[in-house]
Amino acid sequence: MSIDYSQKIPNNVNLSNDRTLQRALEHWQPHFLDWWREMGPHDFASADVYLRTATGVDAQGWASYGTVKMPDYRWGIFLADAIPERKIGFGDSFGEPVWQQVPGEFRSQFRRLIVTQGDTEPASVEQQHLLGHTCPSLYDLRNLFQVNVEEGRHLWAMVYLLHAHFGRDGREEAEELLARHSGDADKPRILGTFNEPISDWLSFFCFTYFTDRDGKFQLKSLAESSFDPLARTCRFMLTEEAHHMFVGETGIGRVVRRTLEVMKELGTDVAQALRGQGVIDLPLLQRYLNFWFSSSLDLFGSEVSSNAAGSFANGIKGRPDETTQYQDHVCTDATYELPTPDGKGGVQTEKVSLRNAMNEVLRVAYVRDSEIGLKRWNMQIQKAGHDFRLKLPSTRFRRSIGAWANVPTDLEGRIIAREEYQRRLPEWLPTPADRTYVQSLMQRVSTPGKMAGWIAPPDRGINNLGLDYEYVRLN
Ligand SMILES: [Fe+2]
Ligand SMILES: [Fe+2]
Repeated sequence: MSIDYSQKIPNNVNLSNDRTLQRALEHWQPHFLDWWREMGPHDFASADVYLRTATGVDAQGWASYGTVKMPDYRWGIFLADAIPERKIGFGDSFGEPVWQQVPGEFRSQFRRLIVTQGDTEPASVEQQHLLGHTCPSLYDLRNLFQVNVEEGRHLWAMVYLLHAHFGRDGREEAEELLARHSGDADKPRILGTFNEPISDWLSFFCFTYFTDRDGKFQLKSLAESSFDPLARTCRFMLTEEAHHMFVGETGIGRVVRRTLEVMKELGTDVAQALRGQGVIDLPLLQRYLNFWFSSSLDLFGSEVSSNAAGSFANGIKGRPDETTQYQDHVCTDATYELPTPDGKGGVQTEKVSLRNAMNEVLRVAYVRDSEIGLKRWNMQIQKAGHDFRLKLPSTRFRRSIGAWANVPTDLEGRIIAREEYQRRLPEWLPTPADRTYVQSLMQRVSTPGKMAGWIAPPDRGINNLGLDYEYVRLN
């Protein structure tokens, strides 16, 4: 179904046929816009930004590009096309027709999942509220804003489900999604990572690489859901999400490239010398990766989880690529072996029901996907003739949730004494000096085609435009 842009709320869900729902969402719309003005990109309301907007939901040509002022962006409700006769793909009801309404007995589970997913979307916009002021180029500024408006749209996607399927509770949750704020002492966002401030662009690239990728895997598993409107919503969100991870991967890749250039010019890899030239030394980058990777791992939840088992059994949340990647979609007898701390400084292997280990299955798939960028970045480093390699830390490192929570380990996941852990943390995580240095690099560059000195230009511009195109016109 094509998207109707003649409506106040663009949509492809026939919103005008359901007047009550339409009115409720039109009532929420100004609240969303108020939130955007207050918590969205600070100071850029009058800028003309070259943005893409969804115009259809097909794989080909689903978006159009044009210049928009962000408060005028057409946030709407877009579901991927229904798959005719779609059947439940996993869990106890495997093979039965999917649901168009939420079954009463699973209502609170669905609501919690949708609210949790919905909460992350505006949270990331809030985290990046001030970032535009220090953009390394107009190209990057535009990418930041593209990510921001799409996270705003993802909030719409979840709010639509809440309004359409959860009655008064859903409407109240939709209001709460605008009332919690990232880092707020009284009403913080639900998940820890989404309360970390993102005040520099290196953190932004790490966030889009690691934390948006968590989003990708959550969406992939919700795209398998038996509740068809949720599955279709998430399938379309994934189309938009891919760009967010592209921003992260190429952003970090460009930082690496620029650093390698200066290493070559100076003939040294000494951090102090490189910092003298205003680039990001690779060990510093590694510490940022350690921070954001470990923080994002917690988003998958505990290794052993009866909640996750329930979600799988009830057909609420499957595994990413459930249909194509697995033979057994019911998993009643299957087991999973988990290495866990034995409480005496060693590691034991725990055998648990596979259903209980679904969070871990998702996390393992995420880690594998996260490796791809590191391979590419390391290829650049290798080609430049250096032995240094970027590495993902062990999934046991610096965890706050699950079996490894608060177990002191080194980057390889070896359990060590707490005193050693504390002493070595400055080797592993960004130090205050690192952060101050990175912050000192954050100076706005807003001449078309120009890049800040700490980052190389991208390979190409947006939508076949040149790098010197004025992607954002600051009025
Ligand atoms: Fe999102
Ligand atoms: Fe995203």
